[in-house]
Amino acid sequence: MKLISKSSEGLHGEIKIPGDKSISHRALICAAISEGTSKISNLQESEDVINTLKSLKQLGISIVKENESYYIEGKGFRGLKESENRLYFGNSGTGIRLMSGLLSIQNFSSSLTGDESLSKRPMKRIIEPLSKMGANISGTNEDTLPLQITPSKKINGINYKMPVASAQVKSAILFASLGANGDTKIIEKSISRDHTERMFEYFGASITYSEKETTLRETDTFTSQNIEIPGDFSSSAFFIVAALISKNSDITLKEVGMNPSRIALLKKLIQMGGDIKVFNHSSFGKEPVADVNVKSSSLNSCEVTSDDVPNLIDELPILFIASCFADGISSFNEIEELKHKESDRLKAMQNGLDKMKIKHFVDGNVFCIEGMGTGYKIPNFLAETYYDHRIAMSFAIAGLNSNSSIEIASPESINTSFPEFIELGIKLGCNFEIS
Ligand code: S3P
Repeated sequence: MKLISKSSEGLHGEIKIPGDKSISHRALICAAISEGTSKISNLQESEDVINTLKSLKQLGISIVKENESYYIEGKGFRGLKESENRLYFGNSGTGIRLMSGLLSIQNFSSSLTGDESLSKRPMKRIIEPLSKMGANISGTNEDTLPLQITPSKKINGINYKMPVASAQVKSAILFASLGANGDTKIIEKSISRDHTERMFEYFGASITYSEKETTLRETDTFTSQNIEIPGDFSSSAFFIVAALISKNSDITLKEVGMNPSRIALLKKLIQMGGDIKVFNHSSFGKEPVADVNVKSSSLNSCEVTSDDVPNLIDELPILFIASCFADGISSFNEIEELKHKESDRLKAMQNGLDKMKIKHFVDGNVFCIEGMGTGYKIPNFLAETYYDHRIAMSFAIAGLNSNSSIEIASPESINTSFPEFIELGIKLGCNFEIS
């Protein structure tokens, strides 16, 4: 498949963004370990989420799709069955890390693996706290995949100070804590997304969470629930930036997740001068949602602090793109974690920015981008994407402001999180061509 992104005449219209990836993983897993049948609507049908769904099926959970909703028969915290085959999580750090926590409290062994990119990503960050809790979990000598988990005699709650701000690590600990003796308390340096906490609360767990501290008290069961998944804010981010940087644009995105631990990008873009309105506020379960209207805007540079980073970690590549079309030098502090994502996203973006003839530099812990302002047209080039969905979508959006067009390498990676990206983009007026 080939994806070409051509200079566009502006974006218009209203679309509903498919379900959030983080919340979809958690909804499936929580439903699978609750008592009774849960219904999930607007589940994200991406490769990442479908791999989690398939793993749960391999572990003996019945999941049926009927009339656009998924029905999951929960079997309780320890009701999963041993899988005959290795569990495969594809590209998904969230899938494998959350499931590792849950599989650590089962009375059978599991082997977990993933694709080439996931096989290189660090797993020590979950192996360490789970082992401290009493889990038997190991990876290769380099603490990478495959992971082996064998039954443990006893899992204890943990008092854990997180060395990295990571919702995946926090959530792995929380899932393991469901089978632990005693309470678990997690303290974070910077606030990471709290979807697990909200979902646990929705399913009836005894959990408190505020700012940087989460406490889960011993909980015996989850009660099955009906869950409507909010639109994915991270998917929306691509079209929000697309509308801001394309002249004559006016788009509305419906029922987008507005969890405060996810929307730092929105705040940054508004500070940069973005014409963005958030309205029709409501909630799906414990998650806030709203509609978002975005119009073309002249942007100023931004400053991202280390505390902002976990809240916009997945949006950094597209915020880099927005910064290219802003006036002034944008600065991004302590974005080291970008190197441990589906690709080394800092390197991937630096390569692309070079081809876009955008000046960028590193000053100590700070990455800086010198914006070219509204109306800048990037030269035509082939964007390397390292099979990383967010890199591919970021350059596809940059192409809307090109001299004529840019080509996106391996665009299939987009299916990892947003299979509808090209179709919805075209509907809004993005000049995408596939062949
Ligand atoms: C996620 C957490 C983040 C994010 C990822 C999804 C989650 O990873 O980058 O796309 O669903 O918990 P880290 O927690 O490792 O930063």
